[in-house]
Amino acid sequence: MNYTENKCLISPHIDRIPRFSKPLKLGVLASGKGSNFKALVAASRNSYLDADISLLVVNNPECEAIRRAEELNISCTCLDHRNFSSRELYEIELLKILKPFALEGLVMAGWMRIVTSTLIEEYPNRIINIHPSLLPSFKGAHSINQAIRAGVKITGCTVHLVRADIDSGPILIQASIPILETDTKKSLLARIQVEEHKILPLGVAIAGKYWRELRVE
Ligand code: GAR
Repeated sequence: MNYTENKCLISPHIDRIPRFSKPLKLGVLASGKGSNFKALVAASRNSYLDADISLLVVNNPECEAIRRAEELNISCTCLDHRNFSSRELYEIELLKILKPFALEGLVMAGWMRIVTSTLIEEYPNRIINIHPSLLPSFKGAHSINQAIRAGVKITGCTVHLVRADIDSGPILIQASIPILETDTKKSLLARIQVEEHKILPLGVAIAGKYWRELRVE
């Protein structure tokens, strides 16, 4: 068998990414390195994805995503969750930051916070999440280790619309990759992220087409 490490299946297969004469106006939420945020901005700047990434909000003042936003010259606000006594109070403050931008959609690009109906109801069907597993398998913050421990031979990543239950909601697009016998958490994450950076712009475009065509509420 001709077997290569990076052999990957993306489904649905998309010949041509949906185009938008008026770019999708998006905000991004991130908690970590910000590599998916960077990939999304790159896709918008190289005219692959018709999107205007208006702002980044992070919840962690030490996260690398802040530096990425500076490098990319994108407005970044840090709203530290540790200053709030509940998720709802946190999200009320988050909405005050987001609302003036009149966003069409919100992309959780490595946002390691559970979101509640306070946020979700303000953006019905308009919040997108990327997760490093083939959902509905391996939800939560430890999906890579869970996949390795479970001994599954294939894993991947998923872009989906957000619902109140963690890592649930309609799936927009997935990419699968093999788990190699030599894989560690680090090596597997690195290979999954190569695919995440491909499917996040595609997932956003699929959602954008749905928003524009159906004028969903
Ligand atoms: C990504 O792998 C993303 O799938 C994951 O966090 C990472 C962020 O990386 N998200 C989750 O686990 C959400 N449940 P990045 O900061 O380099 O984009």
